[in-house]
Amino acid sequence: MCGIVGYIGKNRADQIVIEALKRLEYRGYDSAGVAIGDGQRIRIIKKKGKVDDLKRLIDKDELSGTIGIGHTRWATHGVPSDRNAHPFRAHDIVVVHNGIIENHLEIKERLKKKGYRFQSDTDTEVIPNLILYYTREGFDLVGAVRRAVKDLKGSYALAILREKERILVGVRHESPLLIGVGDGEYFIASDAPALISKTNRFIFLEDGDIAVLTDDGVRILDRNGENVEREIREVNWTPMMAEKGGFKHFMLKEIYEQPSSISDTILGRILEEKGEIHFEELEEMPLSRIRKFWMVACGTSYHACLIGKYIFERNLKIPVEVDLASEFRYREPPVRKGDFLILISQSGETADTIAAMREGKKRGAYTLSICNVLGSTLSRETDSTIFTRAGPEIGVASTKAFTTQIAVLFMLMLFFASRMKTKEKKEIKKMISELKKIPHKVNEVLEGGAKIEEMSKKYMYYKNFLYLGRGINFPTVLEGALKLKEISYIHAEGYAAGEMKHGPIALIDERMPVLCLSPGDSTYSKMCSNIEEVISRQGKVILITDMDSHGMAKKVEDVFVVPKTIYELQPIVSVIPLQLFAYHIANFLGTDVDQPRNLAKSVTVE
Ligand code: F6R
Repeated sequence: MCGIVGYIGKNRADQIVIEALKRLEYRGYDSAGVAIGDGQRIRIIKKKGKVDDLKRLIDKDELSGTIGIGHTRWATHGVPSDRNAHPFRAHDIVVVHNGIIENHLEIKERLKKKGYRFQSDTDTEVIPNLILYYTREGFDLVGAVRRAVKDLKGSYALAILREKERILVGVRHESPLLIGVGDGEYFIASDAPALISKTNRFIFLEDGDIAVLTDDGVRILDRNGENVEREIREVNWTPMMAEKGGFKHFMLKEIYEQPSSISDTILGRILEEKGEIHFEELEEMPLSRIRKFWMVACGTSYHACLIGKYIFERNLKIPVEVDLASEFRYREPPVRKGDFLILISQSGETADTIAAMREGKKRGAYTLSICNVLGSTLSRETDSTIFTRAGPEIGVASTKAFTTQIAVLFMLMLFFASRMKTKEKKEIKKMISELKKIPHKVNEVLEGGAKIEEMSKKYMYYKNFLYLGRGINFPTVLEGALKLKEISYIHAEGYAAGEMKHGPIALIDERMPVLCLSPGDSTYSKMCSNIEEVISRQGKVILITDMDSHGMAKKVEDVFVVPKTIYELQPIVSVIPLQLFAYHIANFLGTDVDQPRNLAKSVTVE
């Protein structure tokens, strides 16, 4: 998963591909590679590390040719290493891939039986082998690609070359890919910024499209194999605009990426027929009786832990103790052998979380990390790791990592529920089907984003905010308040609504907006009373609910309605308007949204 580029034309492909990969560096990656064809051979150079390191190798090697592909990798299957870097070759077929092949193990087994051999730990390696298999069955390159993609399940954008052929093939399926149209030369890229210095004319491929690029032009086949015309669009983006996909800030882009990052996180982990959750990463995990779960993290990841507690305890009936990593190690936590310690971290490099993990290990706990970065310290040192597949998160304020962490916690609960038999199969199936609807529901919220933007204008000059929620939405409001403080520098406090009477109510007057999360669940009537209490003290209530006719809707200042889902998944849907609210206020105030003052993306000191 990360960046793809490809070139066919009259110029040196190595130089063009390297320049394009450099332009994708801002997205983060762990290894890079190129494959360059000189008409006869295709040579591959790939390396863990930076594009500059790769360039030095290429320069030494005098790699020349006018057709080529390249890739920057953000590991999802297999640690970052030279061996797992793209491109991958199977005899004369060479491929780079973004996305996830859900059924790669199945295909690998099938091909192994036919004598195919694999060298890497990646899911990608099955693709060139599968294409090779079909060329050997008599298909030409395009035919073999068409045949191979029929066997693939998951998401993929591909760029493909074959030795001795001057054809560059691109495939798009639920992972972006576009064609750059130059003057007698053509490009492929996963993202426009890669090509912005070469052309401003793009064809944005659609799902299922196969693009065939030759020296004479571009032919596109749709998913049925029919030739189709796709419009060439001129975009006038500056390189900065292109990097952010047309969004003003990375944070906003990442908020809008959530439907796909959640889909990617779920992908391949649902065993539909069995009605079970499967984590490849946990295959080796011994499953003895678990006495107690601990969940430990910092910041936004800590809020995910708090949500995890609600999800786990309600469904597994095993106690979950949640701790801030910075507190955990100093309070002599009564962790014992047989306890299960879950550490959550986007970066996997947060010093306090790493220290907490080591402390827990010392005390005999089994350690599992939920991380977004393959090869990170936390993922290397814990007994096992489940990777969220949010992709690189560049904005300092965490958004898409948070929602994918909740998705993983939910799946982990279902995984334990079937292993421990604490839930009926049909209940698990029902919960899985709700999870599958989440990306769509998040999208629905995002489609209503303009309303939140409008609301933000009204509230941007207030100096203090209170965020109230109950149950599983208590941690959600903590997260909403954190988002507002960190990027807009406005003071905001998240509170369990029931605690309001025990102190914060003293703060409420007409200068205090109070954001209330109030879904139509068991907390509804209690939340209504809290809202009444705020209104009667002239507080301005912003209500976020999943009810079309909430009892308080007519009395509050503003209402935003999100789609309904099950209790455990509500935070994913409800946090989106809170992220947008914080973003738009900060944007209107003109703060440095992506790099707020005093904050670092990864806190590597205790
Ligand atoms: C808030 C934020 C931080 C991080 C925290 C932990 O938006 O990004 O609070 O959540 O520093 O970082 P990770 O998850 O990398 O351990």
